[in-house]
Formats: sequence, C-alpha cells, structure tokens
Amino acid sequence: MRLIPVNLLKPGMTLGKKIYNNDGLILLAEGVKLTDTIIRRLSVLNLSYVYIEDKKTEDIVIPELISEETKLEAIGSIRAGFKNLEERSTIKGSFLHLGKTFSGLMETIMGEIFAVDESMVLLTDMSTSDYNLYQHSLNVCLYSIVLGISHGYSRDEIKVLGFGALLHDIGKTRLPAALIQKPGRLTDEEFREIQKHAEIGFNMLKDEPNIPLVSAHCALQHHERLNGSGYPRGLKGPDIHEFAKWIAITDSYDAMTTHRVYRPAMLPHQAVEVMYAGSGTLYEQSFLALFRDRVAIYPPGMTVQLSTGETGVVSRIHPDVPHRPVVRVLSSAAGEELTQPYEIDMSESLAVMISSIGTTKQE
Ligand SMILES: [Fe+2]
Repeated sequence: MRLIPVNLLKPGMTLGKKIYNNDGLILLAEGVKLTDTIIRRLSVLNLSYVYIEDKKTEDIVIPELISEETKLEAIGSIRAGFKNLEERSTIKGSFLHLGKTFSGLMETIMGEIFAVDESMVLLTDMSTSDYNLYQHSLNVCLYSIVLGISHGYSRDEIKVLGFGALLHDIGKTRLPAALIQKPGRLTDEEFREIQKHAEIGFNMLKDEPNIPLVSAHCALQHHERLNGSGYPRGLKGPDIHEFAKWIAITDSYDAMTTHRVYRPAMLPHQAVEVMYAGSGTLYEQSFLALFRDRVAIYPPGMTVQLSTGETGVVSRIHPDVPHRPVVRVLSSAAGEELTQPYEIDMSESLAVMISSIGTTKQE
C-alpha cells in the first residue's frame, strides 16, 4: 500500500484504506476500484492523499495504533456523545451517562495500545479529509496516550491524560455550529467567542463523578502556552498542568496536519518544524523533544526522494528511530523504473538522507 496525492489518482487504481467523510462516516471502503466519478468526488473532499494498493508495494502495511473496529466504534461513540450535548440545552443527567460511556471507550483504547508489544510511534493518518471534532478528539487522545507511555506515566495517569485529551474540546459542543464550522478565517470577535470553549468545557466536566478533575483542567488549559501568550487565563509555564502541556502539543500537531478550508494539511515533518519554533516558549522543551523523537515524520507508504537521487516508498519504520525508515527504492537516480526494487535501511545506511517528499517519476 502506498500514499498517492489525490491529483495523481487514475481510474482503475484500488483503494487501500477506507475513506471517511467529514462526519466520521465511511464514504468508501478499501478494495474499491477508482472510477472517474469516484475520483471527482474525492477531489471535492479536500483530501490531500489516499492509500492505494499496487504490486510493488502490496506487502507494505500501514500500521495503526488501534484496530479499525475500535476506531469506528470510538468515532461513533464520540459523535453520538457530542451530538447529544449539542442538541441539549441542559447537560446534567445526560452527561453522567456520557462519562460512563467515555470511560468504557478509554478502557478499550488503552487496552489495545498497551497490548502493542513494542515502543510506540506516533502515526499520522495521511488520508483524513477536513477537520471534524470527533476525529480530532480521537487523534489527540491517541497521540497523548502514546506520549504518556513514552514519558513513563502510570496506567492510571495515562487514563486521566487520555480522558483530558479525548474531551479537551468538548466545550465546542456548546457553541453555535455555524461558528465552529465556519469555512474560512475567524474575525477577532469570532475568535474571542471560540476561545470560550476552554472554560465552557471545564465547567461541563469539573463536577462529573466519572470524569477526573485533572481531565477537566486539561479542557481549561490546553490553549495556555508557556510564555503566557495562551488563553483563557494567560497562565505561564509552572502554572499550567503538565497534562495540558502534552495536549497543547498533540492538539497543535493534529490541527496542523489536518486540512482546513483556509490552508492545506501540513506534512508531518513540516508541522514538527513549525512547532519547534515554539520550543521553550509555547511548548515545554523536553515534552516537544520526546514528541519529535516519537512521531513518524515519514510514515509508511509515503513517497520520498533520497540524497542518492533515487525515489522510493517508506516500507517500514523502526520504532526506536522513526526518522530513519526503511525505503523501498522504485526508481533510479536517472528516473528509470527499477524492475527489481530493493530496500535501503536508513538506520544502517547513515549517509543516505531523505531530500524531499513527493511522487515517483512514473506517476
Ligand atoms: Fe481547543
């Protein structure tokens, strides 16, 4: 399986992974043969890339942090829970039930992640389309759990962190949908309105017996930044809860790597670079360093150009050195397609660098 930019899709190609619409519902299943009509539909979805199956990369597996079933179940519960909140003017009662639902969901997610018997890598799904709150909440939750494990938190601490991450933006369910879904940049006034979601979320969560109080503080503080430039209170480093500092990182990363109406999705390495400009000022330096070490900036399936001039597809990542993956070389420095592709393990071939990300010459 490999990633192909949507503008290079051709009829007859086979879809490698499911495609979800902006509401988190399945739009196309894996194995579907692309037609002109499907490609046209994909191009209006604001997807940058999709996974396709082809002969030379058919054995390349795109690893996932949780199973497809759990992911679907999670998106379903988050959507149902959040929609329930959007539709109710009072939240008491309904939320007690939701606290229990989300608690069960957290257990399922954590059970699967903890069952993975190797060091964790933060994987970015490159084939998601426009931002939606449900997918974003799940991504931020998964990324935060991975970082929490790498940081060495206990299972109980990770559950609190994961809960905070899953529900960090829940206050948005109480703001007008038209404001949340506004296509385009916000005016200053609209931005001030959106900023209220942090405090609204805190108030929704703080008294709920099924929600840890620290998780409620994550909702309150996830937009605070070390130098005091964040909101709602302009708290500085020592006053921000460390779980909120992790969520500041995972929330920013997921937002940057997701397509928005006013800008395309950044690639993982670009988002990491942008975030690094805020190391020690916006984000906790040591947390950001761990994040950078754990994120797969060249995820499996991505096409890369090597410093040798050759082009290939990332076939595998080493969890311990995710920045130096195994690359399956598909075309020579002269741009000729290789009849016998071979692999370069960048964790061993230290002189080889990834010079750019892009498409193979055959495409
Ligand atoms: Fe937020």
